[in-house]
Amino acid sequence: MAKLIEQRPTLSIIELWEYNILMDNDQSTYEQLKQELNFHSYRYHVLDAPIISDLEYDRKLAEIRRLEGQHPEWVTPDSPTQRAGAAPSERFEKVRHPRPILSLANAFGAADASAWYERIMKLDERVQNAGFVVEPKIDGLSVVLHYRAGYFVQGATRGDGEIGEDISSNLRTVKSIPLRIPVGLHDTQTDPILQLYPLPDYLVVRGEAFIPNKEFSELNRHLEEAGEKTYLNPRNTAAGSLRQLDPGLTAQRPITLLCYQIVYAEGGRTPATQWELLAWLRALGFPVTDAARRFEVVGEAIAYTETWDKRRDELGYEADGMVIKLDDLRIAEELGFVGKDPRGAIAFKFPAREVTTKLSEIGVAVGRTGVLTPFAVLEPVEVGGVIVERATLHNFDYIAEKDIRPGDRVLIKRAGEVIPYVIGPVQDARDGSEQPYSPPELCPACGQAVEHFENEVAWYCVNAACPAQIIRNVEHFVSKGCMDISGLGIKIVEKLIESGVVRDVADIYTLGREDILTAITRKDRKTKSEPPGKIADNLLAAVEQSKSQPLNRLITALGMRGVGEVSARDLAAHYPSLDLLSGASLEDLQTIDGIGPNIAAAILDWFHRESNLLVLQKLKRVGVWPKEEIKERGLANLPLNGMTLVVTGTLPALSRDQAREYIEAHGGKAGDSVSKKTNYLVLGENPGSKYDKALALGVPVIDETGLRRLCGD
Ligand code: IVH
Repeated sequence: MAKLIEQRPTLSIIELWEYNILMDNDQSTYEQLKQELNFHSYRYHVLDAPIISDLEYDRKLAEIRRLEGQHPEWVTPDSPTQRAGAAPSERFEKVRHPRPILSLANAFGAADASAWYERIMKLDERVQNAGFVVEPKIDGLSVVLHYRAGYFVQGATRGDGEIGEDISSNLRTVKSIPLRIPVGLHDTQTDPILQLYPLPDYLVVRGEAFIPNKEFSELNRHLEEAGEKTYLNPRNTAAGSLRQLDPGLTAQRPITLLCYQIVYAEGGRTPATQWELLAWLRALGFPVTDAARRFEVVGEAIAYTETWDKRRDELGYEADGMVIKLDDLRIAEELGFVGKDPRGAIAFKFPAREVTTKLSEIGVAVGRTGVLTPFAVLEPVEVGGVIVERATLHNFDYIAEKDIRPGDRVLIKRAGEVIPYVIGPVQDARDGSEQPYSPPELCPACGQAVEHFENEVAWYCVNAACPAQIIRNVEHFVSKGCMDISGLGIKIVEKLIESGVVRDVADIYTLGREDILTAITRKDRKTKSEPPGKIADNLLAAVEQSKSQPLNRLITALGMRGVGEVSARDLAAHYPSLDLLSGASLEDLQTIDGIGPNIAAAILDWFHRESNLLVLQKLKRVGVWPKEEIKERGLANLPLNGMTLVVTGTLPALSRDQAREYIEAHGGKAGDSVSKKTNYLVLGENPGSKYDKALALGVPVIDETGLRRLCGD
């Protein structure tokens, strides 16, 4: 046909007219065009590798519609125009499966999987040489697809394993399900495996339907933009969309599937191994996973399975484990089953990442800057091997958007390093007693009215004396990156604040030994091996030592909004004391690289608050006022004046922070990346790419000794 179309321009009008008639009356041309379209649809939806543009596809589709309009008698069920089938009347018909649709027994961990192997080895020694195929265990909906003479004739849900529901109309809309197999033009079917196993007259294939993660997020994003309710997770969305009565709606959902089993075949031979079976299904045009691997020994299969636990996100869809299957299907079959679980395969489950539990209460935490953050208090539940009792609810807008109510059954997720969070409520589990949630009007810690600033999502407690804020402030002040006072744990801090001994961070410096002894909880006494007296002495020593922390650390410790370690370093380099910094103007502050108008305003605001000025006064009085001599001596006299040095790798004596401080104390600037302006690269062990860059740019390279020599030490 392509050839004929190419010739079109050279034909006369009469000939063209004749050609059109000819073509319109040529059923084999229609057949060929249909096969061609199905092949391109397969390239697009199954292989993800189209070879024609969408426009060309649409043109061909328009042509087939035109032909079908003229010859309705030609239309066959495998035409791409037949994907939007008619809706079933009121409910789905029942379908008896030709053979039971089995389930899988679970294994939790390598030991369980080995035990499975040992069990079946005892039953049949041939298992030893049967080989193993490992495939992802897709978390979707099991579907059963029937093909007669290559045509898709019926599709069903699994149901109870014996009887499912006829969801053919919905499944027809799933573009990766071939309407006719083998897919494509017959003369392109050169795959040797198809010669070996020609298509049976009746073939029943099983697969798992699902929505890929990316498509799921996009779907939810669209729904959110349209102000509609979002879905909880891909599995429920796919299952729900396939089991509702409007195929038009199913067609709008990005459902796809992967096939992995032959349920039944009549009039033909099918492969005898799982590995070959996957290749055969693939050659017929079914979507098949490319993460499957074959192994000779079970240990290797288990090892491969375990590698996927951490990599499961790479699959692009939700998988709740891997399936280890005996490759030799005859041996697998002969092993029989226990209940509904075949002995010849096992589901190696990954730790669950999503579970439901009851939201007992919505708690509210008060942060260092007074921000109120809601969190979920949950009925304890295990997720991925960890008991979860608290989960984040992000912010108050999130609660309103998802309509999360205290008392709800909620779906929570804990994936990798992510803090557990509430995905949303399970609306169907409500009993009507759950009331919508509104944010508190008073600070839960101090009882003062909370405030909401324009253009900000957060609610704030603006009371500087709020005990919750003081706790967070002190926690931050003593932390490693700030004043680094070890031994002042949260429990002691809480006690000290509760008893009124500590009212702000400066009070840490006037703590007496007795104050600490009374604050050390009974639990501390029990868990710590040291006697309380020793704990108190160590703590007092740590407090004393922190007085000599450099200015930049004190600036970070004071916790001005937006001022982190990096800005604090820049500020300290510019203003050699807090006296100078407190007098800086908005314009002045903004001359520093990295200090924008917002941070500058936050700094100014901090120095205008009376409670903060009081803290500064107290700090100065107790001697926490980083020495200014070095810096005020005049930067011009320092050896590294005007130079930028970058450190890479591990230095023998100085830690990364210490090296920075050393460079700055000698008047230099410690840069984060190498550029032409870098004066020296200080090289340690195991350097990063900075070293290559320095070499490429011709930046001089020195080691720690070289640095010290440069500084005259
Ligand atoms: S094999 C005899 N392979 O997991 C064959 N099942 O928990 C039994 N599933 O009901 C199934 N991916 O719906 C098999 N690659 C895969 C699978 C898979 C997902 C589902 C299937 C089954 C359930 C068992």
